[in-house]
Amino acid sequence: MTDISVIGLGSMGSALAKTLLDNGYSVTVWNRSIEKSQSLRTAGAVVAESAESAVAASPATITCIKSHEQTLDLLHSLSDSLSGKTIIELSSGGAAEAEKLAQLLAQNNASWLLGIINAYPTAIGKDETVLTVVGAAEVWQAWHKVITTLGGNSRHVGTDASMLAALFAALFTTRQGFMFGMIYGGLVCKKAGIPLDVFAEQIPVSLGVLPSYHQYFADTVPSANFDNPPASMATYAAALDDALSTFKATGAPAELPQLFSDLAHQGIDAGLEDKALTALVELLSKK
Ligand SMILES: NC(=O)c1ccc[n+]([C@@H]2O[C@H](COP(=O)([O-])OP(=O)(O)OC[C@H]3O[C@@H](n4cnc5c(N)ncnc54)[C@H](OP(=O)(O)O)[C@@H]3O)[C@@H](O)[C@H]2O)c1
Repeated sequence: MTDISVIGLGSMGSALAKTLLDNGYSVTVWNRSIEKSQSLRTAGAVVAESAESAVAASPATITCIKSHEQTLDLLHSLSDSLSGKTIIELSSGGAAEAEKLAQLLAQNNASWLLGIINAYPTAIGKDETVLTVVGAAEVWQAWHKVITTLGGNSRHVGTDASMLAALFAALFTTRQGFMFGMIYGGLVCKKAGIPLDVFAEQIPVSLGVLPSYHQYFADTVPSANFDNPPASMATYAAALDDALSTFKATGAPAELPQLFSDLAHQGIDAGLEDKALTALVELLSKK
């Protein structure tokens, strides 16, 4: 027996297995194509001959393959060997598949945790890295040391399998808001003849403001108290309109600033001009 097994040795699964080995865990690994196991064998892992024997080799198995759908297919074929085991599914996936996965494991007398890895493989094993995990509290208790070995700042946030997909969508959209903001920022600079290296150098100015945006959100949305904000919906709408008119004047594609302006104006039309911009969460969720 080993301490833990890892199924799926792509970029992420390999980083997970290597980090566990580096931290003194005994590890069994399995990958659909055997070549990816070789470097881990050299690093001290036991290479299983099948996914079934990998699950049998340890009390808990981390699965990190393409998505929940592939994990479901794989676990369906192993159902006889799942009893009494814990599966820690770290592949990405949707809410419906997460529910099916939890059901399949419960039907087979197996425990489970599902996690989102909020990092690239190079950040696995670092103190600041976060895996966001759901599952029964007692299963988290039993396996949290493994999870925090992979990401030192990891959190258990609930027990419902499907909540992770919504949380992933929320966090990913938050990050992509910044990514697409930079892309559209690049468009307006290009049209205005501003060298893109000048824009790229200035982006850290915006990064410096992000903590106060986070605070603005945290101070308002969880409590649903949108009164007396440091910047009101009307202030944001005016600035967004200025940005939109600059996009239009330069001939840059303006879908993103148009969306931002339209959303702020929906808030104003609903009488929320003195409230925080984040009151849009309440307003739009009623649609
Ligand atoms: N890379 C990242 O930065 C990152 C960050 C956060 C989360 N993730 C998540 O981690 C998971 C793995 O990502 P990755 O970057 O490691 O992907 P990857 O490098 O493309 O590796 C995918 C792995 O999944 C295996 N696989 C695919 N389909 C399979 C199936 N039907 N049955 C068995 N094994 C199968 C592949 O096996 P073969 O070698 O045989 O093809 C390979 O080992 C994904 O869900 C991804 O969203 C990745």
